[in-house]
Amino acid sequence: MREVRVFAPATVANVAVGFDILGFAIDRPGDEIVARLNPDFTGVRITAITGTGNKVLPMDTEKNTAGVAAQRLLEHLGMGSTGIELEIHKKMPFGSGLGSSAASAAGAAVAVNELLGSPLSREAILYFTVQGEEVADGSFHADNVAPCLVGGITLIRSNESLDVHHLPVPEGLHVAVVHPEIEILTRDARAVLSDQVPLATAIRQMGSLASFITALYTNDISLLGRSLHDHMVEPQRKQLIPGFDAVKAAALQRGALGCSISGAGPSIFAICDSGYLAQSVGQGMQAAFRELGTDSQLYVSPINQRGVEILSVTG
Ligand code: HSE
Repeated sequence: MREVRVFAPATVANVAVGFDILGFAIDRPGDEIVARLNPDFTGVRITAITGTGNKVLPMDTEKNTAGVAAQRLLEHLGMGSTGIELEIHKKMPFGSGLGSSAASAAGAAVAVNELLGSPLSREAILYFTVQGEEVADGSFHADNVAPCLVGGITLIRSNESLDVHHLPVPEGLHVAVVHPEIEILTRDARAVLSDQVPLATAIRQMGSLASFITALYTNDISLLGRSLHDHMVEPQRKQLIPGFDAVKAAALQRGALGCSISGAGPSIFAICDSGYLAQSVGQGMQAAFRELGTDSQLYVSPINQRGVEILSVTG
């Protein structure tokens, strides 16, 4: 039977300056998803989930981010009578701020699309992927799924209409992402946020976002560094991550251009102007966590420009 295996990369959402509207992909970690035709039933069935440690993810298609993304795609194509098995191989932690649920949803949508002969573009499957991720955190935002699907740095003008744009990536840009062994659910990290933003804060944040985008287009690394400040969300969420201030100070002291919470946390990312520096910055961040007795994993990566990758197609 025809089978497709894909790799879906982790992503860093918000990027300090663009809460719910900016994200980029990194090379690893990521999830592997297998989609396989099966004539014995109709619709999408999840047949295996591995790599979840002591956590349990739902096997029920309608409760699983990958299952929902695949099922909605199948229905959209009018192929609801096709039978598809999905295997989900988790290779990144949940509740890590690395876009784990987005990776599973994006991987499933791409694998199913490829299995059916690629009738849709990556942009066209975005909607089903966001619907899948919505199952995990109850909110409709594409800042993890969009960069996961297509790679690079993506800007979402509107989450409602999914008006998504690719931004240029300055050469040499690397990121250190440190994942401390703490779990934060996106739902909980959203619950701590006030729905009011003081005007002065909004003005500072608009300045940071606009200059960040300008820096990407003009390749101005110094402006990029001056722009990477989250005045709005980081101050409210950082108390969920014990040691955040010390880890950020370590990153900046070692020369990172900017440092903030990755997505809903607890992972912390630092953007650097070289891979060599990102490695050193990441080690400094890990050392700061270690001093507080917190173990962590470090991922150093350029900005991933590929998004979900097809690993194999058989049958
Ligand atoms: N923008 C989202 C948040 C990303 O920070 O809540 C996490 O899914």
